Amino acid sequence: MEEKIKALREEAISEFSAAVSAEDVERLRIKYLGRKGLISGLFAGLAGVAPEEKPKIGNLLNELKTAVSEALKGAAARIGSISVSSKAEGLDITMPGIKRPLGHKHPLTQVFERINEIFLNLGFKIADGPEIETSYYNFEALNIPLEHPSRDTFDTFYIKDKHLLRSQTSTVQIRVMEKEKPPLQVIAPGKVYRPDATDASHSFMFHQVEGFMVNEDIRFSDLKGILSLFAKQMFGEDTKMRFRPHFFPFTEPSAEIDISCIICKGRGLLTTKRCSVCGGKGWLEILGAGMIHPKVFESVGYDPAKWRGFAFGMGVERIAMLKFGIDDIRLFYENDLRFLKQF
Ligand code: DAH
Repeated sequence: MEEKIKALREEAISEFSAAVSAEDVERLRIKYLGRKGLISGLFAGLAGVAPEEKPKIGNLLNELKTAVSEALKGAAARIGSISVSSKAEGLDITMPGIKRPLGHKHPLTQVFERINEIFLNLGFKIADGPEIETSYYNFEALNIPLEHPSRDTFDTFYIKDKHLLRSQTSTVQIRVMEKEKPPLQVIAPGKVYRPDATDASHSFMFHQVEGFMVNEDIRFSDLKGILSLFAKQMFGEDTKMRFRPHFFPFTEPSAEIDISCIICKGRGLLTTKRCSVCGGKGWLEILGAGMIHPKVFESVGYDPAKWRGFAFGMGVERIAMLKFGIDDIRLFYENDLRFLKQF
């Protein structure tokens, strides 16, 4: 018995000192110190030892247990695993960990990224501009003089000294053209602010993507081509487009652009019921666009006789609402996980 105890002690100590992982340590703990482990086995053999030998062998066994426990602690500390005493403190290192849920991108970010990707693939580059603007960039340079009636719908949050929160990303057209020379092919994603009362389809802050292209020979058909490629990639190959004449101060001619309803496919009807997404019209407005006004070119020092360009602007929330079938703009800003998890 004495021989056995000595041999086991040596074997255990050398095995613990060779352990390289927390799993090794745990496996050895079970092998030697577990309820059915080798040391327990020796204790069970104590019953068969001659009575006069028992105290001595008992002592040796206790020493063995202490020595092996020390070897275990030493190995665990060396590996940096949680010390064995933590088990006694109620931390079971063999329990599976707590899984932290991994989030995902906000639906608006997803749509932003998709829009950017489509235009980057078409050779556009991305530009950025400030959200706090001067009234010059938000209005005058875009051919919206102080007394112009269209200024009312854009009139925004003024700060002071003619500074305001921009009400459109068209401001970035001016900032880019002031700094760079054509040819230009740029999109400008960002936040805009309007003095609108909040309801299911309005918010005082929302997101837009502005886009424009300037060169010597840009035509309205280029605008049509680029936007129809965009609509097909965003909403599906079978998407149709419609241009309706409209007025914007910074473009001439200007148009509002509709796509065929993505729910009823332009039929206006779902079986026999009126389609509720397009209100039975078969079309959904998605953006405004036109050929850049000569006055805009003049304000950035481009010769309007030489350069031509188109511009467009779209609301990101609007596109996300159509794409995901969301009927209330406020849902985007409430950070309710029950909503966000769906996209
Ligand atoms: N800035 C317009 C708005 O906020 C959107 C827009 C319309 C931008 C036509 C354009 C454009 O560049 O050509 O409602």
